[in-house]
Amino acid sequence: MGDLVLAIDQGTTSTRALVFDASRRVAASAQREFAQHYPADGWVEHDPEEIWRDTLQTSREALAKAGASADDIAAIGITNQRESVVLWDRATGEALHNVIVWQDRRTADTCAALQAQGHQAFVHEKTGLLLDPYFSATKIAWLLDTIPGARERAEKGELAVGTIDTFLLWRLTEGRSHKTDVTNASRTLLFDIVEQRWCPELLELFRVPAALLPEVCASAADFGMTSLLGGSIPICGIAGDQQAALVGQSCFAQGQAKITYGTGGFMLLNTGTTVARSRSRLLSTIAYRIDGETHYAVEGSLFVAGAAIKWLRDGLGIIVEAKQTQEMAARLPDNGGVYMVPAFVGLGAPHWCTEARGMLAGLTFDSSAAHIARAALESVAFQTADLVAAMEQDGAGALASLRVDGGMAANDWFCQFLADILDIVVERPANLETTALGAAMLAGHRCGGWPDVLDGAAAVEGLSRFEPAMESNQRERLRSEWRAAIRRATLT
Ligand code: G3P
Repeated sequence: MGDLVLAIDQGTTSTRALVFDASRRVAASAQREFAQHYPADGWVEHDPEEIWRDTLQTSREALAKAGASADDIAAIGITNQRESVVLWDRATGEALHNVIVWQDRRTADTCAALQAQGHQAFVHEKTGLLLDPYFSATKIAWLLDTIPGARERAEKGELAVGTIDTFLLWRLTEGRSHKTDVTNASRTLLFDIVEQRWCPELLELFRVPAALLPEVCASAADFGMTSLLGGSIPICGIAGDQQAALVGQSCFAQGQAKITYGTGGFMLLNTGTTVARSRSRLLSTIAYRIDGETHYAVEGSLFVAGAAIKWLRDGLGIIVEAKQTQEMAARLPDNGGVYMVPAFVGLGAPHWCTEARGMLAGLTFDSSAAHIARAALESVAFQTADLVAAMEQDGAGALASLRVDGGMAANDWFCQFLADILDIVVERPANLETTALGAAMLAGHRCGGWPDVLDGAAAVEGLSRFEPAMESNQRERLRSEWRAAIRRATLT
């Protein structure tokens, strides 16, 4: 058995496979972007077959580029876009519908009705989450209620449901393994995060039959074997992508925090082995379970981060590639009073406003494409500052620093502006692939190939530090203008 680990990182807009060596360096990688489907206002779907094809293809490509065969791979780790759900037929493995993606708001009315009936407090106590269409439970119920015969077949045990990790695991093991890990389970609204089991009352409330659900395991566990990559390889790590990034950033100590900028932006603060409850509408969630010990996190979820930059490219057509935004923002002396509220799919934490929609404010004839690009970058920093403020209000204490990763973290101008707006040091690791690395670390640990990899003392390599340098009155003025823009976007 070799000591390479293959990480499959199935995200919202692309599927990636990375081969890591035992020193946690990327030996090879492959990536494919895939289609986003928007069948109605606020609906977002993916084709599960495209995701599956891309998973196999990128995995094979990454192995070939690394010059590795299945024998060289000690284990596979899977990390994934969370909350998105697939429903499939246990006999054929065929999906009954497109993936309903985490960003999809089609069940907003169901959530509002459950809130009006007074279920929020119980749901929050059991799951640490809020009644919002972001999470999986109402999406599963929608599938069962909409696909003819699905509910009846689900009750009979003919169907299976899963988040993307579970679907890929099922396919990789050719139907032998129907499992997930605690981090993914903790995003469904069906999982009791203290007892760490599917909660019967929640299954009843959301009308989800237990027969549909996967077995829940630790994040480092024996999930099954795959023979589809040229030989038999064990799958030993699974975690939702944001939790995997927390592991990849080695935030194992209570009080350590990271934010990952992918399609959305997700800030997780490790709160240790007990659930910390937020009073500021942040989520409590499972950070990981490793060797019998569960760590929890408080999470602030921004629905739109990198997606705003993608919109500049694919929607507005004012950039050709994301990295242009750095030069566009830097060439301006200031933001010219232009603010973007990127509420394309409502607003997540701490506002949780489903109805809010995106807004550009403060435009004049002087405003240029560069102002809009800068406003998009700034909006992500302002949203992050709102999350940090909410965490501090919750009693997390003042953060000493914040670790960043994901695509937008490559932008130096953004990292400096973030440090300026937060007024704390922003730290960026040399390897921005922390999500995939986290999945690889879980798998490497479990299979025994990477001893000590989860040792908290293991340093993150090559941290760049961005020190705050903005005058406080300027910071206050920018933040108060941002708050005014948010108020207007949430007046629905
Ligand atoms: O909760 C959704 C999150 O897991 C999606 O992450 O990186 O695909 O934006 P990402």
